[in-house]
Amino acid sequence: MPAQPAASIRDSAESAGILRPSGEKALLIDGRAAADRLLDELRSEAASLLRDGIKPGLATVLVGEDAASRVYVGSKGKAARACGFHSVQHDLPATTSETDLLALVGQLNEDPAIHGILVQLPLPKAINATRIIEAIAPEKDVDGFSPVNVGRIAIGEIERAFVPCTPAGALLLIEEAAKGLSRHLRGAEALIVGRSNIVGKPMAQLLLQRDATVTVAHSRTTDLATLVGRADILVAAVGRPEMIRGEWVKSGAIVIDVGINRVPRETAPGEAPKTRLVGDVAFAQAVKRAGAITPVPGGVGPMTIGMLMANTLRAAKRLAHR
Ligand code: GUN
Repeated sequence: MPAQPAASIRDSAESAGILRPSGEKALLIDGRAAADRLLDELRSEAASLLRDGIKPGLATVLVGEDAASRVYVGSKGKAARACGFHSVQHDLPATTSETDLLALVGQLNEDPAIHGILVQLPLPKAINATRIIEAIAPEKDVDGFSPVNVGRIAIGEIERAFVPCTPAGALLLIEEAAKGLSRHLRGAEALIVGRSNIVGKPMAQLLLQRDATVTVAHSRTTDLATLVGRADILVAAVGRPEMIRGEWVKSGAIVIDVGINRVPRETAPGEAPKTRLVGDVAFAQAVKRAGAITPVPGGVGPMTIGMLMANTLRAAKRLAHR
């Protein structure tokens, strides 16, 4: 008899009318609900810090005109304000030089009203992103991308590190799903598809620290289908629409889809072209096999923002020696 699913895991049969082949119902992992709960907690914690004269401050930096990056950065600022934080967005033209961006990062490092600095990636090609990330003070690196934070995570000093927001949010959803399915991460076969510094590599570290047996697959992996078929936990972060076929998914697996891909939507003749968002996993087929699965949108995305706010609040407390 499975344990009572956590509040943000909904019975997918409710929304999708789907039953797993075994007759059991797949669980839909509602990242938006989980993120809303987290943001509520952070809002009340920020209010109590404010009574002590501390207001968490987040500075976001957007360089260039990438439409998706603009939306993401806008959502981060909006969430910060909703949590009662001080929020500043720096919009710089695509022609900004590396020297000017380094100078801005230097100013933000010194600004006592700013506790977290986020430079949205990717940066224009003329700017060396590694140099910019390395310039962010590790104690304000709420993205968890600086070598100091990456190193702390690698050696297991998670309490002293900032953990990158997307894998941190994904881990919370995995833990909630595991609880809902009465499973352990310990000893579970986890497959991460994608080896980026932002998601794949830190996700591997986090799952290793939870005693999962971790495999990282990537664009040169042969026979992805076999690896997917063995995974009790599957994290897809490749950025290729519905690349992971539903039939590959192991029955009962926890499936976390980090991909957010915009694809053309079928339209009636004469109708204007439209798009829709899909993940890296073919959801309609995967939901018939998975034990629990995140939707796209509404899965990992909202949790990324929630974890960024959590890191910013933590940075403010640490910088205030709280
Ligand atoms: N680009 C895509 N995801 C992220 C993120 O989590 N942080 C930053 N800074 N840039 C990104």
